[in-house]
Amino acid sequence: MGPSKRIVVLISGRGSNLQALLEAARTPNWPGQVVAVLSNRPDAPGLDVARAFGVSTQALDHRASPSREAYDESLLTHCEAHAPDVVVLAGFMRVLGDRFVRHYAGRLINIHPSLLPAFEGLHTHRRALQAGVKWAGATVHYVTPALDQGPIIAQAAVPVRADDDEARLAERVLRAEHRLLPMALAWHLNGELEWHDGVVRHRGGAPQWLITET
Ligand code: GRF
Repeated sequence: MGPSKRIVVLISGRGSNLQALLEAARTPNWPGQVVAVLSNRPDAPGLDVARAFGVSTQALDHRASPSREAYDESLLTHCEAHAPDVVVLAGFMRVLGDRFVRHYAGRLINIHPSLLPAFEGLHTHRRALQAGVKWAGATVHYVTPALDQGPIIAQAAVPVRADDDEARLAERVLRAEHRLLPMALAWHLNGELEWHDGVVRHRGGAPQWLITET
């Protein structure tokens, strides 16, 4: 097995997906290590999660930047300082510009709380309930300049229950996210994924989906 790959995680908030990654990375033979966590919000609780695991953290407050481009440039510089093999957006609530996205093309991965291409953008669970869908879920995908539209690596589906409200559905999806993201990221780091005409396939034919009831 090759050397452990370097993961930089970008967050904006709670950091529960980050925690799932940090826990996965502790398991024997997991192919990567989180080398840094960067947040655009200095008060993101996820920064404490990172610290508890002894990971280097940095807050880069977007409100201190004169422009979106300047912010992206500074974020890129700070990411590059950690020489990442992959950059993971785990609840990073800012749209990244083309330059950043192109720089990390093929090694920039996002988790989105819906079964894409349904419900891109914000408030996914509320919109799923309003639409009356019977399955909700999450998607891990490569990031391309078009928001939430990059090639899908894996998806997790959870049932929508008749008595769900936004919070209950969000919680069920989140539990699935915590399994999905480490699984998809390990595939990427192990070189187990291949691309065909913009579609991502697992070389060994592993199912690229999870179905979870609870
Ligand atoms: C998750 O639902 C993720 O899919 C979305 O933002 C949320 C982040 O939660 N992009 P957490 O910070 O990982 O707890």
